[in-house]
Amino acid sequence: MKGNEPSMKCLFEPSGIAVIGASHTRGKIGYRVLENIVAGGYAGKVYPINPRGGELLGLQVYGDLVEVETPVDVAVVVVPANTVFSAVEECARKGVKFAIIITSGFSEIGNTAEERKIADYAREHGLRIIGPNVFGLYSASASLNATFGPSDVKEGNVAIITQSGAIGIAMIGKTKVEGIGLSAMISVGNKSDVDETDLLEYLTFQDDSKVVLMYLEGVKSGERLVEVLKKATRRKPVVVIKSGRSTRGAQAAASHTGSLAGQDRVFDDVARQCGAIRAESIQEALNWCKFLPDAPEPMGEDVVVITNGGGIGVLTADACEKYGVNLSDDVAELKKSFECVMPSFGSAKNPVDITGGASPDDYDKALDVALANDTIDAVACLGCQTADFDANRFAAIAERRYDQYKSVKPIVFSLFGGAEIEQSIHELKLKGIPVFSDVYEMTSFLGALYMDYRNKSTEAPEVENVSIDTAAIDRVVAGARAGGRHFLLAHEAQEVMRAAGIVTPQSRIAHNPNEAIRYAEEIGYPVVMKVVSSDILHKSDAGGVALDLESEREVLDAYEAILRNCRAYKADAVIEGIQVDEMVHPGVEVIVGARRDGSFGPIVMFGLGGIYVEVLKDIAFRAFPLSREETLNMIGQIHSYPLLLGVRGEARKDIDEVASAIVKVGCVLRNCSAISDIEVNPLLVYEHGEGVKAVDVRILLREPEEA
Ligand code: COA
Repeated sequence: MKGNEPSMKCLFEPSGIAVIGASHTRGKIGYRVLENIVAGGYAGKVYPINPRGGELLGLQVYGDLVEVETPVDVAVVVVPANTVFSAVEECARKGVKFAIIITSGFSEIGNTAEERKIADYAREHGLRIIGPNVFGLYSASASLNATFGPSDVKEGNVAIITQSGAIGIAMIGKTKVEGIGLSAMISVGNKSDVDETDLLEYLTFQDDSKVVLMYLEGVKSGERLVEVLKKATRRKPVVVIKSGRSTRGAQAAASHTGSLAGQDRVFDDVARQCGAIRAESIQEALNWCKFLPDAPEPMGEDVVVITNGGGIGVLTADACEKYGVNLSDDVAELKKSFECVMPSFGSAKNPVDITGGASPDDYDKALDVALANDTIDAVACLGCQTADFDANRFAAIAERRYDQYKSVKPIVFSLFGGAEIEQSIHELKLKGIPVFSDVYEMTSFLGALYMDYRNKSTEAPEVENVSIDTAAIDRVVAGARAGGRHFLLAHEAQEVMRAAGIVTPQSRIAHNPNEAIRYAEEIGYPVVMKVVSSDILHKSDAGGVALDLESEREVLDAYEAILRNCRAYKADAVIEGIQVDEMVHPGVEVIVGARRDGSFGPIVMFGLGGIYVEVLKDIAFRAFPLSREETLNMIGQIHSYPLLLGVRGEARKDIDEVASAIVKVGCVLRNCSAISDIEVNPLLVYEHGEGVKAVDVRILLREPEEA
């Protein structure tokens, strides 16, 4: 339906709005929605619809939507679940563009068929659905509060998209208390049609929304979300709260909105890949949303911390590492700049310690020095309550310096102490000054600011495309299918690797001992021999593998031993031959995988082999499309990355070729719809310039109807 879909602008700025199920009874949801629309000052036409007719809040009530003569862009549906379908039919007849279905009782309780029926009908009739099971929409650009939440929304620059209606309703109040103004707030509920990606796409280009906050439980159209998020985060910060991190949490999400939470590690990595700023908690997200809209962009990465206490300075340095904030380390420059405010026992190393005796005037001078210095890109000023720390004077200085430089460079504060300090924090916050009682909170905000800065200041990376011989892969897959298999045999998987341009150990399949000897000589000793049989999956268990064979005699003995062992293991196994492989030189063992994720579609996985993946779960994921830069970031993200850089005098490994192998494996999955999973384990990585080798490759196929 894409081409003739109504513009999202009609949803956020409708020319007329109807409330189907506008109730005459105070307190009912249908009454409350109408009351909020009227109280919010919406300037367009409002039509309450209720078969009882009459008048409501000074408005004429229509018995049926089709009686309304002027256009209606949006209808809020607040009738019981069993009458929603007929209300949607009414909307379609009237030419309504968006129906916001507040009513619960659909897929979230297993009533999926009715929800599907409504969504399918709507799609056929060019009507878009928000929900069902939502709390409505607030849109500042139309002064429209079509929710049953609080009536007094603070207007501003933060747009919120939420999958949980209750969190959304509560956020209206909470944002107001926190002094955060909203440009829009919408809940997506069961996402039978419009989802978070559609809304984010619109809000990306809506200038009133300077920050978008998303609360997600599960992702619906993840492949599209990746694309839209990447674009959005280059224009404005997109803060994401994603619940369902834990197994329990994921189960709770599944029963809450009926969404599959997906693997959190995958979400985390893909969100990072797209530039989304993921918050640990609602409070952290709100801390960011409060100050991000007005924060100036830093000119660079050099942050200076000014402190009167060594302890909080050290804590801040720790927090900077955690949140990716770069402390300027030009000690000579710092010394020159700050010597005028620092006693001899102070420290010009960043954090700059102006010591516990620092007076408000010292702070004033230090702030002035830091803020006026062009080599310093952002300033964090810490105040620890000491015997003669004057919280009021500090607050006055902080406010003055903040006002003076607030459009020049980011300035944040953290104050730690008793009642007076807390009071100052409160007052400064009310004035919109980023001040926090905890240095970790302060630094997490700086981290968010810097993520946004990096998103905007780096070029959009170019997607890496590799050419693979898909026809050859299709032939291999067709062969496996003809044999009734849902997996490829080892030599078939190796063939797929070669079709993708990934080096594999030399390998031939022998059908008699003489062939085995001939192949061993062509490949060169030592060799490895393995049984080829679709009836024997675990070859080693069956005694179907022989390693390090050095001579003709050993090849002959191994050939016989493998046949004998496999017959003893499974007498009726069909043995298609014995594979003779090159015995590969040792290298660093890594795992490269690709699979179809329920949320994000084709994704790739990377980790170091053995315990690193199995025990330490030291793995990274990325979604497609992928640039070389993103692939290299993925490799660099794992904790065991230094092993690839070369430790204890070892040479650097061929990281570029690992990146190529990841992209190629991903491209195979992406281009060959019959394949569901690929795992190269191990991929041996040699020294820089010497490449990689895919030693063991497992490829699983999808059911033919899925492909
Ligand atoms: N067209 C127009 N009006 C209709 C109608 C129709 N087809 N069918 C019923 N109505 C009117 C009713 O007459 C009633 O008006 P009245 O109070 O003046 O008599 C009004 O619509 C509401 O109907 P009612 O049967 O009283 O339902 P209700 O108000 O008890 O409940 C919902 C309706 C939608 C609120 C309820 O079914 C529901 O889903 N509640 C949960 C909502 C929710 O939490 N959503 C998720 C938030 S995150």
